[in-house]
Order: sequence, then C-alpha cells, then structure tokens
Amino acid sequence: MAKKTMKQAIISGDLSVTIESNIPIPEPAADEVVIRAVYSGINPIDWKGANAELSKALHGDVENPDHGPVGKDFAGYVYAVGSEAYQFHVGDRVMAVNHSTGFAEYSVGKSFSTAVIPKHVSFEEAATFGLPYLTAALLMFKGKPLPTPWNPAPGLTRTPLLVYGASSAVGAFAVKLAKLANIHPIIAIAGASSGSIEKELNSDLGDVLLDYRQDRAKLLQNIKHIADDIHYAADAIGSPETAAFCAQAVNPTDSTVTSSVGDPWDNTVKDRSPLGVEFHLAFSPGVFEPNDPEGPEGKNSPNLGPKAFATIAMAYLSCALQRRLIQPHPYEVQPEGLGSLSRSLTELKEGKSRGLRYVLEIAASSGFAKVGE
Ligand SMILES: NC(=O)c1ccc[n+]([C@@H]2O[C@H](COP(=O)([O-])OP(=O)(O)OC[C@H]3O[C@@H](n4cnc5c(N)ncnc54)[C@H](OP(=O)(O)O)[C@@H]3O)[C@@H](O)[C@H]2O)c1
Repeated sequence: MAKKTMKQAIISGDLSVTIESNIPIPEPAADEVVIRAVYSGINPIDWKGANAELSKALHGDVENPDHGPVGKDFAGYVYAVGSEAYQFHVGDRVMAVNHSTGFAEYSVGKSFSTAVIPKHVSFEEAATFGLPYLTAALLMFKGKPLPTPWNPAPGLTRTPLLVYGASSAVGAFAVKLAKLANIHPIIAIAGASSGSIEKELNSDLGDVLLDYRQDRAKLLQNIKHIADDIHYAADAIGSPETAAFCAQAVNPTDSTVTSSVGDPWDNTVKDRSPLGVEFHLAFSPGVFEPNDPEGPEGKNSPNLGPKAFATIAMAYLSCALQRRLIQPHPYEVQPEGLGSLSRSLTELKEGKSRGLRYVLEIAASSGFAKVGE
C-alpha cells in the first residue's frame, strides 16, 4: 500500500520558505509519537538554523537530520504511538519540543519532550511553551542546584536570582519557574515588553523589575544595592555583553551565570570576569543528542541525564498547566499559516517581534487540509 503523505515547509538560507508535498508521514520510533500538528511556534533558532554558518556554530554536526532547520515546537493530536511511548494514546492533545520537524502537517515528538495539554488550554496557547520553556528549565535547574518547582525552597528562604532578558520567552519562563520554586528575590531585567512579566513578580518578597536600557554602570549599581549576594544569574539573551554584565552583577567568589547562547564560553568573556564566576550553557538540543558528554563515562555515557531532565520538566508543565500555575507567553497568531513563515522569521531576525511569540496554524496554510480531513 502507498504510504500516506503530507506537506512540510523547508526554510532556505535567505529565509524564503518552500512547501514540499508528498513527504511520507513519519513513523514513530519506539520512544516517539507522531503528532498531527495544529499550531507551531516560531523561535529565533529557526532563522539562525537556516543560516549554514550559524547553524554549524550552534549545532556542530549539521549533517545530522535531527538538526534540520524546520521548526522546533508544536501542539496537536497524537496520530501514532511508538511501541515504548506508553504514556500517550492516539487522539491525546499534546505539545512537544523536537529538534527538526515542527513546520509540517505531521511532526515527531520524543516521549521525553512531549506533554499532555489540559482541556482548558488551547493549542495556540500550548504552542507558546515548547523550546523556550524547556530552555528556561535548563537555564534555571541544570547548572548549580537551585530549588525547583517540584522541590521548592521552604518558607521565606532568601535565594536572590538575576534573570537577564526577563521579557524574552526564555526569560519569562525562567521567572515563572523561579516563582514556582519559591526563589526570591527575583531581580528581573527587561525593557519595553516588561508588562506581562511585571505581573509575575511579588514585591512583598523583594522581587524587582529593572530596565536594561538605563546606563550600564547605574544598572549594575542598582542591582548591587538591591542584592549584593546574588550567586545565580539566568541570562536569557546570552550575548557576550549580557553574559559579561551578569558576571559583574553576581558575587565574585562563588557564582554561576547560565546563558541561553554559547557566546559566554568565549574566553573573551571569561577573561573579563571574576575568577569565582562559572559559566554554563543551557542548550536544549543537548536533550536530543544520542550521548551525554557530561555523563560519568564521558562521550560514551548513556544520555539519561538530559532526557530524564526533559521528562521531569515536561511532566511538570502538564501538571502546572492543569492547576493553572503557569501562564502561556503572550503570542500573536500569524494570519496565513506557513504562508506567514518567511515574513515572521525575517521579523524575528530583525528584532521586530518584541515580548511575544509568533505561532501559526498549520491548517491555515494555503492548500493544507483542515485537521480531521
Ligand atoms: N540554547 C537554547 O537551547 C536556546 C533555546 C531557545 C532560545 N535560545 C536563544 O535565547 C535567546 C532568547 O530567545 P527567545 O525565544 O526567548 O527570544 P524572544 O522571546 O524573541 O526575545 C525577544 C525579547 O528579548 C529582549 N531583549 C532583546 N535583546 C535584549 C538585550 N540586549 N537585553 C535584554 N533584553 C533583550 C527584548 O525585550 P524588550 O522588548 O523588553 O526589550 C525582546 O522583546 C535567543 O538568542 C535564542 O536564540 C536558545
């Protein structure tokens, strides 16, 4: 029997988008589900990954099909279940993070990076979580041990935390997770889009919002004045400048700066920073690597650590949504489905999308079947 086929979007280096037809619908490996995508989210990595040079810098092995530049997160209905993806059933409403197949009618979700969507959460709301949520969880909880939402700090414990870029999707989810972990005071650094994150902060517990657009020396002084004992900074922007700034803001003797982009590993940042500051990278693609280079047997370690981490973070997301403990990121639905993808990517690249996520309805793409057809 002929295999069922689907349409999928391919992004070129110039960010033009081609729709390919007659692509076989993927079949799930043992630990995967295949999802009939309803909404997909667009991330900065989608334009960065389309650029060959940037993609190589970010992923190393660009020949690995898992690193293809075609969409990282989506929400929809489970269509097929792998033999060992026990927790999912055909027809379940789910959201998933993957590393390659999100801009297609059918996408693959790994069992450890897929989560059930509670009934009261819409697909477009669910599509705002995905990659930035998982990255925020890594940013917060993969480096130095901090209290977690599933093992929060007791009572009025003081754990000052700096979140740089708190109005970005990654930064906003870091603030939301910090709050659920009872981490306070949160010193959130944001700009014009700070409205939605301001609502998450609790001034009674010492949380503050500071504007990054002020004079840098003054900003640093303000942070130190509020808390001179910060040992952890989550840098959601991850530029050399923001990482270096965070390194100046934390305690110089025993602190960690975790960033969402790899530049801080650059020695120029390390060399400018106090010796007692460690740098970490929160790298979601690591969750999908076959091996865990940081594992006990080095490069040959089974990759259980990152996969187990993702399992916990995604299961917690379902639980927190079900109990209305975590809100989606502000979002804007793009009008023509994948027909809006090229423009959306360009706007993201040019920094025109501020404080919200672009999401698109796959079936709104010209010539695509409605879900259920
Ligand atoms: N390592 C990983 O696995 C991973 C995964 C996801 C994302 N990332 C990276 O993490 C970064 C954030 O991604 P995202 O999806 O969260 O982005 P996003 O939601 O598109 O972030 C946009 C917001 O970032 C804020 N911003 C931009 N430049 C800033 C600066 N210099 N200082 C402070 N805030 C700044 C702006 O806030 P205002 O409007 O308030 O000024 C802007 O609205 C990107 O570089 C992305 O590539 C990495």
